[in-house]
Amino acid sequence: MSQQQWWRDAVIYQIYPRSWADANGDGMGDLPGITSRLPYLAELGVDAVWLSPFYTSPQNDAGYDVADYRDVDPRFGTLADADALITRAHELRLRVMVDIVPNHSSSEHVWFREALSAEPGSAARARYIFRDGRGPDGGEPPNNWKSTFGGSAWERITEADGSPGQWYLHLFDVTQPDFDWTNSEVGDEMEQTLRFWMDRGADGFRIDVAHSLIKVDGLPDADAQHEMNVQNTSDLPMWDQPGVHDVYRRWRKVTDSYAVEGEDADRIMCGEAWVTPIEAMARYVRPDELHQTFNFAFLMSPWIAPELKANIDASLKAVEPHSATQTWVLSNHDVIRHASRLGFDPVPGPLQMFGIGVGDPQPDAAAGLRRARAATTVMLALPGSSYLYQGEELGLPEATELLDEARQDPVWEKSGHTVRGRDGCRVPMPWEGDAPSYGFGPTASSWLPQPPVYGDLAVDRQAGVEGSTLELYRTLLRLRRELRPGRGQLTWVDLGESALAFDVSTASGASMRVIANVGGEFLPLPNGAEVLVASGEFDAEKGLPTDTSVWLRV
Ligand code: NOJ
Repeated sequence: MSQQQWWRDAVIYQIYPRSWADANGDGMGDLPGITSRLPYLAELGVDAVWLSPFYTSPQNDAGYDVADYRDVDPRFGTLADADALITRAHELRLRVMVDIVPNHSSSEHVWFREALSAEPGSAARARYIFRDGRGPDGGEPPNNWKSTFGGSAWERITEADGSPGQWYLHLFDVTQPDFDWTNSEVGDEMEQTLRFWMDRGADGFRIDVAHSLIKVDGLPDADAQHEMNVQNTSDLPMWDQPGVHDVYRRWRKVTDSYAVEGEDADRIMCGEAWVTPIEAMARYVRPDELHQTFNFAFLMSPWIAPELKANIDASLKAVEPHSATQTWVLSNHDVIRHASRLGFDPVPGPLQMFGIGVGDPQPDAAAGLRRARAATTVMLALPGSSYLYQGEELGLPEATELLDEARQDPVWEKSGHTVRGRDGCRVPMPWEGDAPSYGFGPTASSWLPQPPVYGDLAVDRQAGVEGSTLELYRTLLRLRRELRPGRGQLTWVDLGESALAFDVSTASGASMRVIANVGGEFLPLPNGAEVLVASGEFDAEKGLPTDTSVWLRV
């Protein structure tokens, strides 16, 4: 079995820089904080980290509004801090992926400022998507597109002479103007940014809204616009248009040019492409495009065995024609943490994904954590690469009772207070149960308040404690390195309606069996099987209780 192409079965840990570790005590995480805590990740047993944006930014969308792609925001540190982080990570044999945000910049980017003070039709305007409005005085937006965060996707500007002017497109916040990717200057500039970070040692990129760069010519009205509700995302004029693949073919040439002969040193790209059907998503991982895309189908699957199975099956089949491996993920900085998401009664259909607050139905914390541990135990045995989100290794729940006054996600305001948004999964990490800010930083300051349960779940409360979620993750990751199921082949085993069971080949060529009891009665374990790891307690006689998973040597 080839061990090259490290990313094919890598476990990649997402750090949300605002919330992981705060070295200077201002309540906001920073790069020196991250560097000081990296040994924790080496010990956890992950292969790489992905850092959400830490670039110069007004932070209107927590850094996904980039004002300078090639500098570090002073809140997070300096370029020298970024260099030190990458160096330290490499010493610890951790690879580093950085986030690239190519669809839009911040409205504070120098290009956008130039565009605002330039004339309609000028070269400066042509880097973004400026259009005249509709209606007699141009007072109506150019089309009916909506911002993903709520409201129109268009904002009207005032021209330099004070007259009501053109409109610009922003698929996200009003301070996140979309670039015009048909303008070659945009592609050239972004290529320089890729090179800049690879020259500093970055091992790869996570690509923000990777499916949105190219819009249908003429920007026609859209029928109905939420990509998660459509069968085929590319039916909408702003998502998953064929031309976007040319961008990634160009980028692949750039990342490939950094490969080192004879070394397992691929610089990789993982696209965030919320695209349906899954075959369309798989087109992003054709051999001359991206290495990976996030597989959100798995994340969105309810805790129901046949649905999970169908999802995993379709995910594996979709990438086969492209000789790519699949990725798996259960949590990130945009969705309700899986320890809470899975704490609702499993029903077929779409899951609640974005924000829970005071007065909303609350998840069952115990069931959520049990299922989250079981789900992760399945995920880490699947062929392909897995992404973990900071704090899930502690079983952190979503902060579901965060007061609305504390919320900072633009989604809450822009949706007219109808969608609570993503702050609940972004609450700073607890490291020490008894320290101020639970050890997030040296002071009690924390940019979002931490719920008391975070103290009980802090790293120091779980390290070395048998049965803790942290020790479960450490065991899973240790075994995964040893057995390499991520490079294996999966064969389904039928153990009835409420079981998810498969064999997966391991490094030695022998198979291990993975069984999850997904909401069913006790499930007997095969005679003589050796339990390698279990997500919860099981009964030697009766077998595997509900919402529990095991890896077995059979
Ligand atoms: C996806 C990112 O994950 C999310 O946090 C951000 O708000 C949008 N893209 C816009 O950049």
